[in-house]
Amino acid sequence: MALPAMASDVSTIATTVCFACHGENGNSITPIFPKIAGQQRVYITKQLKEFASGKRANDIMVPIIQGLSDTDMAGLGAWFSEQKAAPGKVEDGELAMVGKRLFHEGNVSTGVPACEGCHQADGEGNERYPRLAGQHQAYSVSQLNNFKNGTRANDRGKVMRAVAERLSEDEMKAVAEYIAGL
Ligand code: HEC
Ligand code: HEC
Repeated sequence: MALPAMASDVSTIATTVCFACHGENGNSITPIFPKIAGQQRVYITKQLKEFASGKRANDIMVPIIQGLSDTDMAGLGAWFSEQKAAPGKVEDGELAMVGKRLFHEGNVSTGVPACEGCHQADGEGNERYPRLAGQHQAYSVSQLNNFKNGTRANDRGKVMRAVAERLSEDEMKAVAEYIAGL
């Protein structure tokens, strides 16, 4: 963070407004609200701008960020990316083992690429790809479905839609279970 004054404004927004759904420091405890603590800075800022512009639709998020400036969005991306992410919890170990294979190897018979190719082997992502590690199962499944049915179409070059359209419902659940434990 270059400007200390901006940092304090941003942390106030984060700990009052965003806190209501995304929880303490972005570690949401409610499955429908994504964890954003430790998420990639570039990715967070991109999502906020796209909720604002209508490129990513969501009835809950869109009205909340209407009052934010580009500077706020960049600052919030930096602030949440620096928060320590709390680990997720695997609820079904057997299902997670099925998902593990898909995550690291993909599914050759249906043309699903390995998730690790973009999201990294530990699910931490990088400047180009979001962090998935520790995310709530229900949220991951909801986004995979959104990409598959086109409700979410803000992935450049349709990279994520091309992956999701090849996933079955069972594969989505399995890979989301594995991701929760990364
Ligand atoms: C009233 C609840 C609510 C509040 C308050 C809220 N959010 Fe969200 N946020 C959501 C929901 C629900 C989603 C998931 C949207 C979807 O399913 O596409 C979301 C998604 C996001 C995402 C995308 C996460 C991802 O992994 O793609 C980011 C980033 C985000 N919110 C940041 C913020 C910030 C920053 C604030 C504070 C300025 C905030 N949110 C306030 C409910 C909320
Ligand atoms: C070719 C690269 C690529 C591969 C392979 C890939 N993804 Fe993605 N994924 C992306 C990109 C890029 C985004 C973010 C799109 C955006 O900017 O909104 C994304 C977003 C996601 C999201 C939404 C994250 C969030 O916080 O909302 C999930 C969940 C996801 N991917 C799961 C997977 C799974 C599971 C696999 C393997 C079956 C996979 N991805 C394979 C590139 C990839």
